[in-house]
Amino acid sequence: MAKPDKMNNTGGNSTGQAMMRMTIGILVLVVLTALLFLYAPEGFYPWAKAIHILAVISWMAGMLYLPRLLVYHADAEKGSVQSETFKVMERRLLRGIINPAMIVTWVFGLWLAWKIFGFQGGWLHAKIGLVLLLSGVHGYLSGAVRKFAEDRNEKPARHWRIVNEIPTLLMIAIVILVVVKPF
Ligand code: HEM
Repeated sequence: MAKPDKMNNTGGNSTGQAMMRMTIGILVLVVLTALLFLYAPEGFYPWAKAIHILAVISWMAGMLYLPRLLVYHADAEKGSVQSETFKVMERRLLRGIINPAMIVTWVFGLWLAWKIFGFQGGWLHAKIGLVLLLSGVHGYLSGAVRKFAEDRNEKPARHWRIVNEIPTLLMIAIVILVVVKPF
């Protein structure tokens, strides 16, 4: 059966264009971040929080969906059309949504933590600890996407089903910490 190549509908656009978009996105973000840290106008706090929450939603949407894709991908035959389609979906989800959303979440979260709370508070320290764990899971999933792309995954679907639960549990704990601020 023919494999979808990188240039057709299933394989998507060229890697060069994706890299270009990502580079422009990162440059825009770096400039915005620099402006934010140099010049933070009065009343920026609710805007920063709104951007932070939007980025969190995007990051979590990806972090909840990606392991689910890996569950199905683990059961697909290597080299099959399904497997190649999953590779494209996983790569696009990771590069187009999850990675940029994580960066924006961190930038605005750290700004809020520094500017509004001076990095003080048990809830904040616990929250940052759990977000570091979540970022570790993010790194693990990025590695998994690379392995799947090279047909090197040896883990069964059950493994990815268990991994699938970790971002959910971390998200629940993080949201309770930041909203309830129990300590
Ligand atoms: C990347 C590291 C992060 C840092 C340093 C950080 C820090 C903060 C800070 C300081 C606030 C303002 C709290 C307030 O105004 O009371 C905030 C708001 C919030 N954060 Fe984060 N955050 C991070 C990541 C996340 C993640 C991963 C999630 C969810 C999974 C999340 C969910 C929220 C929510 C829902 C709010 C709004 C809370 C409210 O207004 O009551 N944050 N964050």
